[in-house]
Order: sequence, then C-alpha cells, then structure tokens
Amino acid sequence: MKDIIQEILEKKKLNDIYLIAHYYQRAEVQDVADFVGDSYAMALAARNSRSEIILVAGVDFMAETAAILCPGRTVLSPEPSATCPMANSITAEQIVRYKEEHPDSIIVSYVNTPAAVKAVSDVCCTSSNADRIIRQLPPDKEILFIPDQNLAANVAKKVGRNLDVFPSCCPIHDPVDIEDIKELKKRFPQAQVLVHPECKPAVLELADYVGSTAGILDYVIKSKAMDFIIGTECGIFHPILKACPDKNLILASENLICPNMKSITLEKILNSITEKQTVITVPAEIREKAALALEKMISLAS
Ligand code: 13P
Ligand code: SF4
Repeated sequence: MKDIIQEILEKKKLNDIYLIAHYYQRAEVQDVADFVGDSYAMALAARNSRSEIILVAGVDFMAETAAILCPGRTVLSPEPSATCPMANSITAEQIVRYKEEHPDSIIVSYVNTPAAVKAVSDVCCTSSNADRIIRQLPPDKEILFIPDQNLAANVAKKVGRNLDVFPSCCPIHDPVDIEDIKELKKRFPQAQVLVHPECKPAVLELADYVGSTAGILDYVIKSKAMDFIIGTECGIFHPILKACPDKNLILASENLICPNMKSITLEKILNSITEKQTVITVPAEIREKAALALEKMISLAS
C-alpha cells in the first residue's frame, strides 16, 4: 500500500495532475487526492484549478461536470463505468417533451444528471445550494425539479413553493428506514441525527440536521455533541473522523454503501495517471449548453 501511494503521489506531481475526490470515495483514495469535497465543491475545484489534467475520483456525472466546466483541459476518470443510477433514470428526450407541454416552465436539474440532460435544463443545483437557487427563480413560473423526488420534496418544503417532480430517487439513500433510525435513537438517545436530503421525507422529519455531505461534515466539526447517527454514504466517516477523531459515528443503515463510488481503487487511480486514461469528453454542442446551466448555478449559488 505504501509503495502504490508513493507512486501515485510522485507521478501525479511529475505530470501536474490535479486529483479531485468525493467524500464517498474509499479512505485511501481520499488520502491521495489534492482536493476532497461534495459534488458542488468538486465542480468549483475543477473549474478553479490551473492544472492541464484533472483526474476525478467520483461517479461519471462528476467527471462530466468537470469536463463541461474546463474546456480545453483533459479530464480523466479512473473508472468510467462508475455511474449513478439515479442520474441515468432521466433522459434529455423526457425533458424536451415536458418543455413542449409546459413551454413557460423552468427546468432545474440536480447535478446528478447526464450532460445531455443538463444541456436541456435552465439551471443546475446540488443539495448544498438547491434552496438558494430556487428562491431566486421567478415566483410566477412553473418549476420541474429533476431527478431526485426526495430532494425536491425537501426543497419545496423549505422554500414554500410547489415543484413538479420526476419519480426517481437514489437507490442508496431512499431505502433508509425510519424504524432503523428510531431503533438507533433508543440505543443512543443522546445522538444527533444528520441525514442527506436524498433520504425519504419521513426520515428527514426525524433529523436534527439535513444537508449535503459537506454540510454534514461541517455540522459535526462545529457541534458540541459527541454522538451522531449518520444518514448518508459511509465514506463520509473518513473526513469526519480525520477532523474529529473523538466523535462517535453510527451509520443509520448498514446498506449505506454506494458500490459505484467504491469501485474506484488506488490501483485504478495509478493506472489512470500512468496511461492518461480514460479521457472524458462531452460533444461540443452538448457541452456548450450544459455549461450555461452549470455556470448559472455557480452565479446563483455564490
Ligand atoms: P453531495 O452533493 O452532498 O456531495 O451528494 C452527492 C451525491 O451523490 C449524494 O448521493
Ligand atoms: Fe448516485 Fe446515490 Fe451513489 Fe450518490 S449515493 S452517486 S446519488 S447512487
């Protein structure tokens, strides 16, 4: 393990490759990254980096987002088959059809979407900025929020606005069960419950805090509490425990493991750096339109 880590760090430096990882990555992958963050911070990190080559340790829409925001630079994925089933549940054709039926509507697409869907959307969002973005949209317009119905319900409640939704959800977060959380609360009554908004609305009702992966990390760091029931993918334990080694973390469900995120290994990272593979490209006509929706998100979120 020490040898492969050393080789990755040396080759990365030699080739000026900027490695960006998501909080759901394996601990050892997070530890060799130049930047670790939530999906929004990853997009900004790619856009703001000066490196010619950006390697994205995350699922495909994260690498695509970097490629859309960094034209002219090379974006690599260590495992292009690592995908997000929720992102793949919606197609550009479905949005175009909706737009024909609702010509005055605004399409807000979660960053967990393919590039072609972003290209037919008006603005993107992530769980860290969705409410802020919706609050800035014209109040008289109909909004279609895609594809996560749970995040949409949470945002609609927060901003007090009706949103049209698409029937889809994350296969990792949606199954988190209120009974599991209630049981854990009986065993750890002092624990705070922190959940990602991709969980069901009934689960969110039981939470002390609902937020993105970065929001959950920040909450634990700032909190005086010592025990936390965590309702998001288990990879978040690593950055939390690095920052707060004395805190006690309890996973809300043993199934909170995203196999796509975990399919990226140190061996694949090393191979990607050595072979400069796999290059992620987005066709120019899609890239240009998708960039407008992503840049609109960045301008409304900042
Ligand atoms: P974050 O934006 O909170 O990092 O979430 C991304 C994701 O895929 C959650 O399942
Ligand atoms: Fe997609 Fe869910 Fe995995 Fe996040 S945790 S990448 S939403 S499948």
